[in-house]
Amino acid sequence: MATLEPLTGKAAKAVDIPSWAKIIACDGAVRSGKTVSELLLWVKYCLHSPAGLLLIGGRTERTIANNLIYPLQSWFGAENVQYRSSTGMCWIFGRECLVVGFNDAQAQTKIQGLTLAGALLDEAAVVPEAAFTMLVSRLSIPGARLFFTCNPEAPEHWLKKKWLDRARLWIDKDGKAHENPADDSLKLFRVTFVLEDNTWLVHNNPDYIAELKLQYTGLWYRRMIESEWVAAEGAIYPMWEPQRYVVPWEKLPKMSQILAVGCDYGTTNASTGLMLALHDIVDDTGRITGHDLYVIDEFRYDSRAGNPRITDADLSERFRRWLHTEHLPYETALEPDYVFVDPAAASFKVQLIEDGIENLGDGENNVTYGISRVASLLDTDKLHISSRCKGLIEEFPGYCWDPKASDQGIDKPIKVADHSLDGLRYAIASTESVWQPLITNT
Ligand SMILES: Nc1ncnc2c1ncn2[C@@H]1O[C@H](COP(=O)(O)OP(=O)(O)O)[C@@H](O)[C@H]1O
Ligand SMILES: [Mg+2]
Repeated sequence: MATLEPLTGKAAKAVDIPSWAKIIACDGAVRSGKTVSELLLWVKYCLHSPAGLLLIGGRTERTIANNLIYPLQSWFGAENVQYRSSTGMCWIFGRECLVVGFNDAQAQTKIQGLTLAGALLDEAAVVPEAAFTMLVSRLSIPGARLFFTCNPEAPEHWLKKKWLDRARLWIDKDGKAHENPADDSLKLFRVTFVLEDNTWLVHNNPDYIAELKLQYTGLWYRRMIESEWVAAEGAIYPMWEPQRYVVPWEKLPKMSQILAVGCDYGTTNASTGLMLALHDIVDDTGRITGHDLYVIDEFRYDSRAGNPRITDADLSERFRRWLHTEHLPYETALEPDYVFVDPAAASFKVQLIEDGIENLGDGENNVTYGISRVASLLDTDKLHISSRCKGLIEEFPGYCWDPKASDQGIDKPIKVADHSLDGLRYAIASTESVWQPLITNT
């Protein structure tokens, strides 16, 4: 992203803010131009806003740097947008901004007691509600404004119910303006974007839009592409059919890499390890035409299935024995590049390290994000399951969203038999940076 083009369409509407607005919110599809619009508003704000400390927030300092600070530097030059990650400070045309990752446990203590002249918050729907409320209460300098962006979540989500739904002026998906004269409306100006509102992408990279649409399915398509706040309901993997995904182990094709084993850990229920491998799809001439993923094997120790409860040392021994068995129906020297473990399983991890397991990491444990990656791979037929993964095959059909959590605006699976599914989620989500470019670029 080197050059910034003038904003058109919805983005132009979003930056034309009413003078009464104290909160300016852009919600809607991914890559629809929300952040770019808010960034431009923010730079203007930095130049003209009331004196005082400003704050730039997001999920983590890493995502803030990637989504906000680096784009600003590429448009306005690093001399005008200076960033010191070590101190968490940034200067935009000389205006001092505190950089805060809201998913840090310390985020609330960092903003507690501040007096702010303005704030920019990216990905606001994934920050804790208490931290968001605290941020709003800190904007106490007269004239202070909050700018935020978010993708849609559940319709009962606190950010929608308590804030977006009470906007005094809302420009909807279709560009229609809705005024809310109710007494309890907030001085909030809301603009809802759809993917096609990013005219820059529409003109410069229409293939990317088509590709993006393929990456999202079901619930996530409705939210991330169609900009709808819809609930997670019913089966989590409605596409699951054994005939479609299960491959007899004896017939597994040649794999080019074993990406990881994802392990879930339980003392009173099952501990699992799901082995994920990459397969090169080749045509008749031997040319690689694409890639897909296979879950080739499964480790499972279930203390409920009539087995005794065992110590971490015993579990580690069983797991390592399994690691040294054959995982593919032909000779191979391939070994898993990583072992990703349930981040909550501290004692088991220590045991595995003591027992010499290398390349051990914490599994990426954002549950809904992991589920969305698995669902997307299944929907696009990029993930196949070997018949050896009996626990996984058994768990797939019964995995459901929790309606009680959904009523509170939270996406949460019902806690049922999900031990192999959790292991799979760790393996898939933790290796995404490896498989994602291969799977989409071919
Ligand atoms: N006016 C613009 N000039 C240049 N690039 C743009 C412009 N608007 C959007 N883009 C491009 O579109 C991408 C997606 O926009 P962004 O605002 O980050 O989407 P969102 O925040 O909705 O996910 C940006 O990274 C940038 O590459
Ligand atoms: Mg964004």
